[in-house]
Amino acid sequence: EIVTEMGTKVSEKDEIVVEGVSLSKSVKKEYYLLNKPRGYICSLSDEKGRRVVTELINTNERIYPVGRLDYDTTGVLLLTNDGEFANILTHPSYEVEKTYLAIIEGVMTTEEIYKLKDGVEIDGIKVIPRRVKIKKKDLEKNKSKVEVTIVEGRNHIVKRMFEAVGHPVNKLTRERLAFLDVKGLQSGEYRYLSNDEVNELMKLKKSSKK
Ligand code: URA
Repeated sequence: EIVTEMGTKVSEKDEIVVEGVSLSKSVKKEYYLLNKPRGYICSLSDEKGRRVVTELINTNERIYPVGRLDYDTTGVLLLTNDGEFANILTHPSYEVEKTYLAIIEGVMTTEEIYKLKDGVEIDGIKVIPRRVKIKKKDLEKNKSKVEVTIVEGRNHIVKRMFEAVGHPVNKLTRERLAFLDVKGLQSGEYRYLSNDEVNELMKLKKSSKK
């Protein structure tokens, strides 16, 4: 039966077909937490033939990474086929906290730390970190370990923040996204998110005033 009437009621036993495609096989939503290794890109395919993160997940569903980590960045990465979930976690208005551990060149001066904490401009927009913690200053090797928490998600944002204060990043790991970390997961390993974890992340939307 062809139905054109808006609001037509159907029963659970009906099969609904739109332009030849059945809607009855609803897509199962999947949510993964991957400990991303270096050497993978956050994309569905790559014209340069580099490996992509979705190769690491054993599923037939069309999942994709939630936001991006650089080719050489490691750590917490979510993958899903749920568009609303991905949108909540990447849209700046929901202010999801992301914590990165950076190994940077040089030892930051107090002045530079304040400059970073006060906010540096990236493409004309100031990025004010939620937290900055100096974890280690290695004067011999002329390197430092710094933990920074931000809510922004623009491309290469952390590397650009450190570059703006004169300290290129050698190594970058995302240690946490909201309340999630990679404890118990080796590099390249993943796990499913629990229903509670998914619900908790979805709540970010409801609790947002924006
Ligand atoms: N900021 C960066 O510079 N790189 C990442 O991979 C993530 C955040």
